Amino acid sequence: MTDRLKGKTAIVTGGASGIGAAIVKRFAEEGAHVFSTDVQTDLGENVAAEAGAIFVEQDVANPDDWAKVTKQVQSDTGRLDILVNNAGIVIGRSIEDVDLDSWHRLLEINLTGVMLGCQNAIRVMKTNPEGTTASIINIASTSAFAALPGDVTYTASKSGVRMLTKSIAVHCAQSGLDIRCNNIVPGATHTAIIDEAAKVVPGMIDMAAAMSPMNKIGQGADIAGAAVYLGSDDAAFVTGSDLLVDGGMLAVHPGY
Ligand SMILES: NC(=O)c1ccc[n+]([C@@H]2O[C@H](COP(=O)([O-])OP(=O)(O)OC[C@H]3O[C@@H](n4cnc5c(N)ncnc54)[C@H](O)[C@@H]3O)[C@@H](O)[C@H]2O)c1
Repeated sequence: MTDRLKGKTAIVTGGASGIGAAIVKRFAEEGAHVFSTDVQTDLGENVAAEAGAIFVEQDVANPDDWAKVTKQVQSDTGRLDILVNNAGIVIGRSIEDVDLDSWHRLLEINLTGVMLGCQNAIRVMKTNPEGTTASIINIASTSAFAALPGDVTYTASKSGVRMLTKSIAVHCAQSGLDIRCNNIVPGATHTAIIDEAAKVVPGMIDMAAAMSPMNKIGQGADIAGAAVYLGSDDAAFVTGSDLLVDGGMLAVHPGY
């Protein structure tokens, strides 16, 4: 622990498992006052309690839940320095298989939820006592750069998040708000999403590892390290960027 986030208040969505849980834990270790939110209440409470964070039940697709979470954060700490929009789902359906209800639900969570998070967070960040300095971190995916044919909705959602981030970054900068907004772009990372996929596709984890020239799959802690950097003052001049944490996956020509 080096107190890189000491004195900062953070919200991390989807904090009950995987990448979100790793970020909650690392942020707390770095001295942040962390609010972890999720739809999974038991797991979310346990992870938060272990990390020394506060858990709030939230469906990121629900605008009322965003108002509830930001109101609680503001009344408890009087500020918001970091928002990590991490909650996300996959549905694993191609353009031929996807039904409209699944399409809408995934986009509500993965894309609209991120927009609502940014909108609500900026309202609070603008009232921070020492000025607006704050950081929004959106968890995109390598599928915002290279499509997943088997999940058309997920691919569309993460591509949307990627450019949503840049629009927000430029808006804030041009409006004189010192609110940075960046994407983390994880490659295959060992979490529940991958374990579920591995039940359907045997050898999935080895295949995911082989996508990286490092021949390994990422861990939640790898993504959490990147989030600490973007949330910290070390990244004060970084906005609108895509921070690739993919073991070099997108760096390699598909033929090699
Ligand atoms: N694991 C990977 O390989 C990988 C790669 C690239 C990007 N990502 C992204 O990282 C993020 C985290 O994924 P993960 O791998 O840790 O998966 P995960 O399933 O372990 O965690 C996702 C969390 O989001 C929560 N969640 C789902 N719907 C929600 C909702 N409506 N409101 C609030 N919380 C909700 C879940 O309960 C869960 O705790 C996602 O946005 C995912 O798309 C993951």
